[in-house]
Parts: sequence; C-alpha cells; structure tokens
Amino acid sequence: MTTAHPHPEPAPLPHAELHLHVEGTLEPELVMELAARHGVTLPYPDVESLRSAYDFTDLQSFLDLYYANMAVLRTAEDFADMTRAYLRRAAAAGVRHAEIMFDPQAHLVRGVPLETVVDGIASVLATSEEEFGVSTLLIAAFLRDRDEDEALDVLERLLAMDAPIVGIGLDSAEVGNPPSKFVRLYARAREAGLRRVAHAGEEGPASYVADALDLLGAERIDHGIRCLDDDALVERLVAEQVPLTVCPLSNVALRAVGSIHEHPLLEMLDRGLNVSVHSDDPAYFGGHLDDNLAALEGAHGLTAEQRATLAANSVRSSFLPADRRDALLAEIAAAS
Ligand code: ADE
Ligand code: ZN
Repeated sequence: MTTAHPHPEPAPLPHAELHLHVEGTLEPELVMELAARHGVTLPYPDVESLRSAYDFTDLQSFLDLYYANMAVLRTAEDFADMTRAYLRRAAAAGVRHAEIMFDPQAHLVRGVPLETVVDGIASVLATSEEEFGVSTLLIAAFLRDRDEDEALDVLERLLAMDAPIVGIGLDSAEVGNPPSKFVRLYARAREAGLRRVAHAGEEGPASYVADALDLLGAERIDHGIRCLDDDALVERLVAEQVPLTVCPLSNVALRAVGSIHEHPLLEMLDRGLNVSVHSDDPAYFGGHLDDNLAALEGAHGLTAEQRATLAANSVRSSFLPADRRDALLAEIAAAS
C-alpha cells in the first residue's frame, strides 16, 4: 500500500547555474548511445563499467576521461541531444537560468568543425526558455593547457561566425598554467565586448585567483576555494564581492577537499564571500545543482537564510539583465 506523503518536498528555490560544462553533463547512458550511433568503440563494454571508471584522484584523472568520452560527440545532433538532456534535468533541479560553458578546442582537435559544435548547442539554447523554463547564455571556455595563440585563433573564428556567446572562460589543467598565459586572450575578449570568467584556485594557488582578477579582468571566479589560504585575498574578495562559483561535489570527487563534511562552503559564506553553489560536471561528480545542495544540507545543515542567500547570490552573479535578475530575486524572497 502506498500513502501520500503528508509533507511533500518544497519546490527548490530558483537558481542560476553559473558553473556548468556542457560536455560534463554527458551521462554514461548517452555516451553509450552516441557510441552506438556512430560505431565508435570505447574501452568500456557497458554503462556500468564506464560508470565505475568515474573514480578520480585529482583534476587530471577526471580530465583524461572527460576528453576521452568526447570521442562520441560528432554531429550537431549529438551536441543538441546532450544539451537538451542537461536542460531537462536542470529544470527539475530548480535551475531557472544557466550560463553554459563549452570547450571548442576539445572538439576542434578531434576534427569536429566549430560550426557543428556551436550550431548543435545553440539550436537547443535558442528555445530553452519556452521548452524547459530555463533561460540560457553560452560561454566559450579555453583550455589553459594549450597555447594562447590557438585560443586567440579560435576566439577570432567564434567572433567571425557571430557565435551567440556572452563571454569566455578558462578551464582544464590549472597547476602550471597560470592566468598570466592568457593576458592577450582576455584583452581581446574585453575589446570584443565579451564577459570574462576564469577557473582559478581549484587546485591552483590563491595567487591565481588574484591574477585572474588583475591580469585577466575576470568578473567571476570559477571555484576559488583556495582563496582561503590567503587572508588578505579573502578580505579583498569580500570587499569587492567577487562572485565565486563553488562546486562542492566536484571538489570532493577531485579531492580538492577531503569530504563533503570538510567542505568550506559555509565558512566562505560566514566570512562574507559572495559564494554560490553549482554543479561543474554533473555526470561525473555525482550530481546536479539539487544534489549539491542536498549534500551540503546533509553534511552541514543549511538554515533557510543560508539557502536563500545561496540562491540570491547565484542570480546576482549572473550576466542576466537587471529586470530578469530582479524578477528572480523577488521569487526567491517570496519563497523563502
Ligand atoms: N573542465 C571541465 N571541468 C573542469 C574543472 N572542474 N576544472 C577545470 N577544467 C574543467
Ligand atoms: Zn569547471
């Protein structure tokens, strides 16, 4: 016999997902489906064996599998299917706006044309609000372990084709690839009127966070948790209210922190940092936005005020126009 639950779960608070790699939403089931679609042979016979490989020791061990799985992404339809599956799941998690990163170089090096990638993703984003109730913006992320000239060339190609991007980001292997490598890339993006975000302080030192701000003009820092190693930097980030897009389950999966119980998100919030919670690569790290919030809730407990602050920070840190931002903030206030 089943009975109705007397206290149904409240609807999740509206959030803006600001740290999401669309290639990191590729679930094992879809990897296998696309492999079959194209006759690609993978080193994993089935979904279970692929999923069991999702056991990482650090950022590089994840990146190796993340790039390897991209071998199944060949056509615009593949990119569209991946993007659609993400948006459907994100809507259920409470995501009302998503600023989605993609890695153009990771596909170009495999011989997939830029137009295929951009058209596939953008074709779904164009109707995401009507179809899923999620507004979207697209961010081209550049691979920091490749050289700046290649990144500049790809940026020029994106501009020349009028790709519907709002900004640029910087990702991939952080240590040894400091922000100072990409000063010209970010200057060109600024000149072209693009917004600028960058991964910094995930595995790399606190100094990379400061350099992303000072040398690249980054408006938002992806991760940033290593700022806690430098009190003066924390003071600055608080004073300037620099948005930090923190991804708890990613940090645990890649062993940037020992466990969800040791995750510093609440310490960051208490110290007045402008933090919000995001999912990074949900297919690889055990969860979407709602799973990240539930993990924090389970390990630390969140007050209603903390939940509302995290939701409001995500919306305030977005690149949405003021009217849409204010409307979402009003919804959060009404639901809190
Ligand atoms: N690319 C995809 N996910 C990433 C992460 N967490 N850090 C750096 N590069 C990435
Ligand atoms: Zn990331």
